[in-house]
Amino acid sequence: MFEKEEKDPIALFTAWFEEACASEPKIPDAVALATVGKDGAPSARMVLLKAVDGRGFVFYTNLESDKARELRENPRAALCFYWKSLDRQVRVSGRVEPVSEGEADAYFATRDRLSQIGAWASKQSRPLEGRLELEKRVAEFTLKFGVGAVPRPDFWSGYRVVPERIEFWSQAAFRLHDRLVYDRDGDGWQMKRLYP
Ligand SMILES: Cc1cc2nc3c(=O)[nH]c(=O)nc-3n(C[C@H](O)[C@H](O)[C@H](O)COP(=O)(O)O)c2cc1C
Repeated sequence: MFEKEEKDPIALFTAWFEEACASEPKIPDAVALATVGKDGAPSARMVLLKAVDGRGFVFYTNLESDKARELRENPRAALCFYWKSLDRQVRVSGRVEPVSEGEADAYFATRDRLSQIGAWASKQSRPLEGRLELEKRVAEFTLKFGVGAVPRPDFWSGYRVVPERIEFWSQAAFRLHDRLVYDRDGDGWQMKRLYP
């Protein structure tokens, strides 16, 4: 499966991601994000990958959400992609850092207006009396921002998972799957294969 031994896991990820974008029927950028807060209990949920390069893997969220609180308590995370159409999994783990204000502003500006209003209206992860309460908040912020550009809320931004380890898993016959792991080693990467 890994015919050519790629030295750069980001290049390999990018190639796999492009294939997934071509073959997945829906949201190839969906990824499970695992965090662990100060209570030591792991927590996982889906997010969308919004950027990837040599610096790491970026997602956006509400900074007052449970995941953001957990990341403040313990700035480490794991990501797990699974592309059913390709029978492939990629696991990433490492430290997490906030993206720059400029990066968050630039991404927020690309979201459609309703998603921008939604970011203002949602007190993500906090209790909600009922759907009507949320709809009222959406109406309030729609009125507030009128027709001009919607600014990014200061409680909404992104995080970058800076990878220390990236594992590529590809299904093979008889459960003898291929696993290739890259561990960060100074400015480069150490690559090894693992038993399935
Ligand atoms: C496919 C999918 C993609 C999602 N993408 C995001 C995302 O990019 N950012 C986000 O904050 N929540 C996203 N969510 C919602 C989260 O899974 C989660 O419900 C929410 O962020 C609250 O999580 P928390 O309480 O652990 O902070 C997504 C959910 C699904 C099913």
